[in-house]
Amino acid sequence: MVQLISADQYGVIGDPISHSQSPSIHKLFAQQLGHSIDYKAYHVSENQLESFIYEFRKKGGRGLNITLPHKTTALKYVDIINPRAKEADAINTLIIDEEKIIGDNTDGIGLINDLEINFNQSLKNKRILILGAGGATLGILSPLLKREPKNILVANRTASKAKIVTSKFKSNFSLDACGINELDSEQIFDIIINATSIGITKQSINFPSFIITENTVCYDLSYSYEPTLFMRWSVENKAKLAIQGWGMLIEQAAASYCLWRDKKPNTSSILKQLNINASSQVLRRL
Ligand code: ATR
Repeated sequence: MVQLISADQYGVIGDPISHSQSPSIHKLFAQQLGHSIDYKAYHVSENQLESFIYEFRKKGGRGLNITLPHKTTALKYVDIINPRAKEADAINTLIIDEEKIIGDNTDGIGLINDLEINFNQSLKNKRILILGAGGATLGILSPLLKREPKNILVANRTASKAKIVTSKFKSNFSLDACGINELDSEQIFDIIINATSIGITKQSINFPSFIITENTVCYDLSYSYEPTLFMRWSVENKAKLAIQGWGMLIEQAAASYCLWRDKKPNTSSILKQLNINASSQVLRRL
């Protein structure tokens, strides 16, 4: 169980958890800022979730990242839910003190920062297609809408699920939903985001290739040490740029770190420090 030690304690909880890069990322942030923190990955199953969170607080823990499959269940154990977590119906960050536990969600801002800051892709007035309508889509929709894109279309294998997800958002901008099989070749997209689980479950791509034009930027929310299948498929179909989600992972971590310690780490060198090959993170059309 959790041990009391002098450095401020943080951690990430999930099931499974061994693959998590969060301890390495947060240690690099702390080193960079000269902070002394203890950040560990904890394997926590669904039935241990409540007791783990309260025990962690009792032992002086200051913050937790929450990963799959607890992002929605953990909402039950917080005193205050920040608006972006409420909109996403999921939390990835707990800010903990003796009196209260605050739940927040930095996934969406992680994506936005990666696209806007690291890849210089403004979202304003852009035509955005999101493939998939699960938890990942729910986490990014509200922050994307706030960037005032021209429109966002959520296309899902199961059309009804896309409609349910988009109906949660009231927006001045055009937000629409359809089935992937209802997409048509007249529609043009500046940015296509793969928020399906095909990368995780290693399924083949069954999206229509006409959704991509020469000016399309494709972003895969999943990440891997090699270019993902979606990235390869995107550039094979002439997308100008295909990016995978390492940057989003690092940026969401930086946003969580800032919530906990009020200092924003510099993220520019982290990818290299994690030994992630920059050339596998981005593919450009030749
Ligand atoms: P997450 O929380 O990671 O988004 P999820 O809630 O299980 O995971 O959602 C997975 C998403 O990937 C869903 O939108 C799913 O489509 P359905 O709602 O039709 O199931 C989508 N998905 C999974 N496999 C897919 C495939 N082979 N082709 C297209 N979409 C797929």
